[in-house]
Amino acid sequence: MSIVVAIDGPAGSGKGTITGIVSKKLGLVNIDTGAMYRCVALATIQNNITLEEKDKIIELAKNIKIEFDSEGKVYLDGVDVSKRIREKDVSSIVSPLSSIVEVREEMVNQQRALAKGFDIIMEGRDITTVVFPDADYKFYLDASFEERAKRRFLQNQEQGIEMSLEEIKENIEKRDYNDMHKEVGALKRTEDQIYIDSTNLTIDEVADIVIQTIKEK
Ligand code: DC
Repeated sequence: MSIVVAIDGPAGSGKGTITGIVSKKLGLVNIDTGAMYRCVALATIQNNITLEEKDKIIELAKNIKIEFDSEGKVYLDGVDVSKRIREKDVSSIVSPLSSIVEVREEMVNQQRALAKGFDIIMEGRDITTVVFPDADYKFYLDASFEERAKRRFLQNQEQGIEMSLEEIKENIEKRDYNDMHKEVGALKRTEDQIYIDSTNLTIDEVADIVIQTIKEK
C-alpha cells in the first residue's frame, strides 16, 4: 500500500516550500496540483482562448501534457514552464479557470493517476476533501493574509517575477474568495485535517511538525 500525504491551504500559506522539504526528507513524490491548474491557464493564454470560451478550455485541459521531474520542475507539452506559470497573467486567471467543473474533473483524474503506485505528498485546495479524502495524513496549512502576501512577494523577487506587494495582495484576496466559494473543490477546513497556523513559525518548524506527525502516526 502506498502512502498519501495531503496538504491543503490558501495561496502563500507555504504549502509548496513545506512539501518540497518534507518530500525530500521522507522520500515522497511531490505533486503540486496548483501548478497543474496553472499549466491549463498558461495553455489558455498561449492559444488566445478567453475565460468565456469554456468548451475550448475543457478541451485543452484534456489534451495538454503536464509532467513533473524529480526536482519539482513542471513541464507543459515538454517545455519547462516552472517559472512562467508564476507570472501575473497566469495568476490572474487561474482561480476562475479552476472553477470550471469539467476542468477540475480532468485534473483530479490526472492527479490520482500520477499518484498511483507511489508514496506521495500532494498539495492544493481539495486534496484532503476530494482528490484523496482517505489520505493517510491530512493537513491544512494556514497563515495570516499579510504574512502570506509578504511571503509570495519575497518568493517572486527571488524568482525574478515582477509584481508589487499591492498587486499580490489584490490577487491573493480575489483568489482566496474564489477558491473558498467554488461550487466544486472549494478550499475547506474539516475536523479530520491537522491545522497548522504558520504565521509565527519558521519553515523548519512547520516542516518538523509535518514530519513528526507522519513519523508518530
Ligand atoms: O497553489 P497555487 O496558488 O499555485 O494554485 C493556483 C490556483 O489553482 C489557485 O488559485 C486555485 C487553484 N487550485 C485548485 O483549484 N485546486 C487545487 N487542488 C490546487 C489549486
